[in-house]
Amino acid sequence: MISLGIESTAWNFSVGVVDEDGVIALAGDAYRPKEGGIHPREAAQHHAEVAGKVLRKVFEKVSPEDLDVICFSQGPGMGPCLRIGATVARAIALKLKKPLVGVNHCLAHVEIGRWMTGARDPVALYVSGGNSQVIARKGNRYRVFGETLDIGIGNALDKFARHLTLPHPGGPRVEELARNGKRYIEMPYVVKGMDFSFSGLVTYAMNLVDRGERREDVAFSLQETAFAMLVEVTERAMAYLEKDECLLVGGVGANSRLQEMLRIMCEDRNAEFHAPPREYMGDNGAMIAYTGLLMHRHGMDVDVEESHINPDFRIEEVEVRW
Ligand code: ATP
Ligand code: FE2
Repeated sequence: MISLGIESTAWNFSVGVVDEDGVIALAGDAYRPKEGGIHPREAAQHHAEVAGKVLRKVFEKVSPEDLDVICFSQGPGMGPCLRIGATVARAIALKLKKPLVGVNHCLAHVEIGRWMTGARDPVALYVSGGNSQVIARKGNRYRVFGETLDIGIGNALDKFARHLTLPHPGGPRVEELARNGKRYIEMPYVVKGMDFSFSGLVTYAMNLVDRGERREDVAFSLQETAFAMLVEVTERAMAYLEKDECLLVGGVGANSRLQEMLRIMCEDRNAEFHAPPREYMGDNGAMIAYTGLLMHRHGMDVDVEESHINPDFRIEEVEVRW
């Protein structure tokens, strides 16, 4: 069975095609803000402009007639961006007379991670721009066991990078700077129960730079502190739920230092550490196509009339039938 998935929640307009055996095609076009962070309307405009070109690229590898199901990212995400992906998906489904599936974006990050790594029943650390959550399956739902109380870790790193006048996305720039950090500077470490918070930490880091601290040292200390918070909560969830696999997903998962810290934690507990290839960490259409395929096979299609986007869609809302 062949599935096409459209991802358009935020910065990327990406289309992927998969079948049960693997990824057949993946193409995308990233929106890069001229200044500042992501402007939802500008990003949506970008998605609308590139949609045709990205689809044509995918259709060079697979013929539209061969598709069995059309899937789109239903949320969470930015309303104007979500609307473009949903509209394109509905148009294709109607034209080809194929079933339509609306996919939860967070669930898609987790499911493609499991698919690509073979992780069976992991505690997932999902870290991206807008989201930071510790997720595990309980019965027929994924549950969030810990999450950010304010901004996502990716947005925190992007905000810090912007303060240093580095371009968006800032995460990879901060990682580069941190590699040359020599001195750890103590920073506010905020874990409350199973939740964490990054906004005070970022303000603290920005103030240190303003006061003349070496930016490499501040970037290094920011990463060490924020990642230690994430690793601590992930480890506590693994202990509490008695799970021996950890899966890292989401755009920030590309960070080598975060991967290293989780790997060490897993080694200490005799647990397995899993991370999908970088290409599938950040937002991509293949994760929507794959999760939508699972949903379609389990009777979770949606009528076009009912296929509304949901900017606040939570992973717990989806019944996991597989
Ligand atoms: P979501 O809707 O799931 O929140 P998103 O729109 O934030 O997704 P992703 O592609 O999942 O998109 O994540 C993007 C984030 O990942 C950005 O904040 C970016 O700075 C961050 N990022 C990318 N590479 C790295 C890296 N090497 N180190 C740290 N952060 C990174
Ligand atoms: Fe994402």
